Amino acid sequence: DLADKFPYPHFMAKEIHEQPETIARAINQFLDMTTGALRPLPSLDFDFTTLPRITAAACGSAYYAGATAKYWFENYAALPFDIDIASEFRYRHPRLTEGGLALMISQSGETADSLAALRHCAANGQHIASVVNVEESTMARESATIFPLLCGAEIGVASTKAFTSQLAVLLCLALKAAQARGTLEPEMLHKRIAALMLLPAALSEALKAEPQLKQVARRLAYFHDVLYLGRGPFYPLALEGALKLKEISYIHAEGYAAGELKHGPIALVEKGTPVIVLAPTDELFDKTLSNLKEVTARGAHVILITDPPGAEIAGGDAAEIIVMPQVDPAIAPIVSAIPLQLLAYHTAVERKLDVDRPRNLAKSVTVE
Ligand code: G6P
Repeated sequence: DLADKFPYPHFMAKEIHEQPETIARAINQFLDMTTGALRPLPSLDFDFTTLPRITAAACGSAYYAGATAKYWFENYAALPFDIDIASEFRYRHPRLTEGGLALMISQSGETADSLAALRHCAANGQHIASVVNVEESTMARESATIFPLLCGAEIGVASTKAFTSQLAVLLCLALKAAQARGTLEPEMLHKRIAALMLLPAALSEALKAEPQLKQVARRLAYFHDVLYLGRGPFYPLALEGALKLKEISYIHAEGYAAGELKHGPIALVEKGTPVIVLAPTDELFDKTLSNLKEVTARGAHVILITDPPGAEIAGGDAAEIIVMPQVDPAIAPIVSAIPLQLLAYHTAVERKLDVDRPRNLAKSVTVE
């Protein structure tokens, strides 16, 4: 055990730091990382050009990866993409579209509810594909197509490298779908591919914020409630950030769509309330910045995760600014996963908790 995580004190730390390599492996399946040429996909039992809809279902972090991918499939490939929590999906009598693709997302490939969702879709004539890490898993075996994560065994109960690899695989698939369907201008497609090639380096750059995040975590460790805000694809990332913190630090955290702030969560904000805002400079930056100002005006202690131009604009409105590298908007959500993981990790370490084996949680939930 000790040898396997060396030189890190926890598997979670090791797995966080592995991400520049694991993500490169995930992307390299779709993209020649030196030439930027998109590779052909393995033979599929469906055709992206005629696919009417993707139905996705997953649990935990895998669900948030799917919720992020919805933005990519709909924006880049103009492909309707439904995503459900698997335990809800299996009982809500979903109306499936004939000829649709069921896309299941799971690190372990053994999660009971996700497997039940897969079987429901298979019984109802959907094409079945899985984004899984464990290629020998039940879900992998029951899928016509598998898109492996190739990130190696993930030991920490809280998902880190599997989550970013799920995102990378899903983004690559969305771009392959966009290419097949001709829904992205060649120049835009090229920009997105170039961004993917830079992703491993961007994750290495993001990891350099660790000393600063450790400092932030020292303070966070003494709070009882933390709010995470984001818009667009940063909304599911806000949910994932809150989940990570809850899982391993046992601090209550809530992720919210920044635009929903006024419909409830702003009532929680008082002097010193920690609010983590995810806002790189994309088309929604100004909107999120105005939400940031609203909570700052009510005394919140805002920790802003942004890029250099965002840091410049937000300036004094945030108490602390974590600066991530400036990247193409397509990959920015993946980059922002790193500071969220580091923040949760260091907060739990500060609270002297068992980071790799949090109480009451299992790595894989194989019973309902
Ligand atoms: C558990 C784990 C999470 C994981 C979720 C789904 O709750 O603690 O880290 O995201 O299960 O697991 P799966 O193996 O289906 O991705």
